Formats: sequence, structure tokens, C-alpha cells
Amino acid sequence: MKHKTIIEPFKIKSVEPISLSTEEERNAYLKKAFYNPFLLTSDQVIIDLLTDSGTSAMSADQWAGIMKGDESYAGSSSWKSMEAAVKHLTGMEFVLPTHQGRAAERIIYGYLGGEGKVFISNTHFDTTRANIEYSGAEAIDIPIQESYDTTLIHPFKGNMDTERLKEIITDRGAENIGAVILTVTNNSGGGQPVSMQNTKEVSKICKEHGIILLLDCCRVAENAYFIKHREGGFENKSYEEIAQQMFQLVDGAAMSSKKDALVNMGGFLTLRDKEIAKACTNMLIITEGFSTYGGLSGRDMEALAIGLKEVFDPHYLQYRIRSTTYLGEKLDEMGVPVMLPIGGHAVYIDAQKLYPHIPANEYPGQALVCQLYLKGGIRSVEIGSVMFGKYAEDGNLIAAPMELVRLAIPRRVYTQSHIEYVIETFDEILKEAPEIRGYKIVEEPKFLRHFTAKFEKL
Ligand code: F0G
Repeated sequence: MKHKTIIEPFKIKSVEPISLSTEEERNAYLKKAFYNPFLLTSDQVIIDLLTDSGTSAMSADQWAGIMKGDESYAGSSSWKSMEAAVKHLTGMEFVLPTHQGRAAERIIYGYLGGEGKVFISNTHFDTTRANIEYSGAEAIDIPIQESYDTTLIHPFKGNMDTERLKEIITDRGAENIGAVILTVTNNSGGGQPVSMQNTKEVSKICKEHGIILLLDCCRVAENAYFIKHREGGFENKSYEEIAQQMFQLVDGAAMSSKKDALVNMGGFLTLRDKEIAKACTNMLIITEGFSTYGGLSGRDMEALAIGLKEVFDPHYLQYRIRSTTYLGEKLDEMGVPVMLPIGGHAVYIDAQKLYPHIPANEYPGQALVCQLYLKGGIRSVEIGSVMFGKYAEDGNLIAAPMELVRLAIPRRVYTQSHIEYVIETFDEILKEAPEIRGYKIVEEPKFLRHFTAKFEKL
């Protein structure tokens, strides 16, 4: 039987115009932005796949929630809605609202971090790593070996290498480990999921050594989708139940709610331990806001509470994951070197394979990001040596392990014809690939350089 097309499970009530542009115009825009798409203005972009963060379309229910937002400084009903939604999902006693994910990270890693401390993750997202390193601590990534092979099919490429975890604990001493962090799904590692089995194993090791285990749970609903469909024993569990089970295995979580809570702004830190929660609440009040709003308006909290439920709707999650997969599979069929299997929120392209003639220190990922913009007005992001490269003492670049480009799909924003347009743009990208040249960085800040670095064409 032929399956019917999986349609967007929503219809459109309010539209936002896209301003179209010619390649010639985009050439000028890109030059003015120093070949860094972060420096473009949004009206210069046709399809914005820079990030899935804070770019979701909210539902009619969420917009209704916005009107109900209670803006009281203390104890607002919107805070009560948000707190209840987070507790229902995570089962944790202490919930600290923050304006976005990195604020939660700064608070918890500022508290647990500092000189001499080590943090271990399947892969730290860039803001997570930056907050840890800023505290003086060290961040070590230990994804499973399979995750480095971009074409290998493995159901849970986001998993952590548990043998390496044990070795590092023995090497460094459990007392020096600030925390172990599982990022679900593993954003920088290709949007790949973490299995429940791996979470259980990591949790067991952490418990044995008295080490705190945290979830970076921005995309925990998407991760639950993969568990239900790929890991035995979860077929009859709801997506929400799967996520709840994952939270039971950890001591705390930080969430950028700009992803799987379907809001444009928001986040939280949630903890079981009273003492840690107390210390973090002090910091929250000093730098974010009072403990019943953090950095959020009442209306933000109301929308977040609603989004955190909507995201587990099976029709939504099926559409969400299938549409990302659709884009990825089409590109794969055309011969674009995509990371396989296709992740949850984004399609990752191996720019080093697309441009084998461009060495890492000439940033093949940045070259692809610029080409996508020029040819289609498509904005994407480099996740390679621009984002994660470091300099050795002699000034040479220490390249990132992979040179990826991410096409992140905003939630409930683009339709299938937008996605078809992206696919068509890749025809040109493939044709011109052999002639494309790299870039050099002419200006950069010390931390998170990809946001503001300036480039020149080579
Ligand atoms: N952790 C992960 C796994 C993330 O993907 C992000 C953000 C954060 C933490 C930080 O959250 O932006 O709310 O402060 N990722 C965005 C992205 C920026 O484009 O992937 P934030």
C-alpha cells in the first residue's frame, strides 16, 4: 500500500512575508556581512535555516496563553503553570526559570565548575563548553566512536562512550568531575539521539562514583521519538513517558526552551538537590530575576507551559522528524554528503567531503554556508573549525574533528515547497563544488568566535 504524504498537521492563520532577492543582491549583502551569515539582516534571507532555536511558530493556544500572562513580580499564575509543566515532565522538585538555555548553564556550571574541575559530555554544545571553560574548568567530549563516521548507520549515534567515561573518572578522580552531561539529542554531533540504555549505563557509572549527571534537554521530545521507533521495549510508551523516564535517571537538567518547548524565548534549570538548588537560586536572583520569573515575562512562561505539552503530540512529532528526514534523504539521493542517519532537528552536511580540495584552515564549512546563501538565499551555520577550532601555541589551527554545515529546521514554520526549494538549490551547489575556494578569518573575538568573526575570500 502506498503511504499518503505526511502533511503539516496545522493550517496557517497568520503569515509573515519573505523578501525575495537576486543572486547579485545577495553577493553585495554577503560582502557587507564579511562573509559571515550571522551578520546578515533577516530581510536579506529567503529561507532561514540558521537555527531551530527560538524560531518556532507558536500555536493558537500559545498565543491565547500570551494574553493570559500574569506579569506579577512574585508568585504569578503563569509561573505556577510553567513550574507545574516542568515538574510534570522532569519529576524534579526545584525549577529555576531562566531567559534561555545558556543562562541556566552559566548558573549551574558557574556553581559546579572552576579551576581543576572536569566536565564530561557526549558533546558539549558551544555555549555549554564556553560557560564551563569560562569558569576555569575543562570540558571533554566523548561520543561513541561510531559518531565520527558520518556515513555509518547507527540508531543512537548520540550515545556516550561509557568505557572512556570510566577511564577518565579513574584518571582524573571522581572528586574532580564537576558533572557528566548528556546532550539530547546531540546537537553538535549531528542531532543524533541518545538511547535509554546508554542513559541508564551513564547514570549507573555516575551513581557508583557519586558524580552528578545532568541532561541538556533542549530536544528531549525529538530524542523520545527516536527511542520509541528505534529502541526495543518502548513501542507502547508515549513520547512523554519516554522523556519522563529519561529524567528519572539524572540529577538535574538545563533546557533551552527555545527548541522543544516551542517558544521564542525561555529556559530553565531543574534540580533534585536542595543545597545546589539553593545556591543556584541565589545566583538566579542576582543575575536573572526573582525565582518566580527568572528572566521571563509572565506571558513567556504561560506559552512555555503550553508548548512543553504540545511538543509531545504524536502527529506533531511524526511530521517534525519525517520532514527533516525528507530533506536529508533527498539530498543524500542527489549525492550531497549528508551525515547519516538524518538527525531530529537538522540535516548536517559534511563540507570536507563536498569540498575535499579546501583544507580545514581555509574553512570548507564556511565556504558552503556562503554558497548556500549566494545561490538560494538560504542561511545555514558552520559547525566545524570556525565554531570549534583552536590555536596551537605556534599559532596554527587545531581543526575541529569534523567540518559540518547545519541546516536547522524551525518548528512549524516552513512548508514542503520551501523544503523543495532548498533541495533544488543543492543542484547548483553540487555543480559548482570543484571551483569553490576557502576563506580566511581577518577578525575574531576570544569566545564563541563564529558569531562575529569576519572573513575574506581566498
Ligand atoms: N544546549 C544545546 C544542545 C543547544 O542546542 C543550545 C542552543 C543551548 C544549549 C543554549 O541554549 O541558545 O537558549 O542559550 N542552541 C542553539 C542552536 C543556539 O542554534 O543550536 P540558548
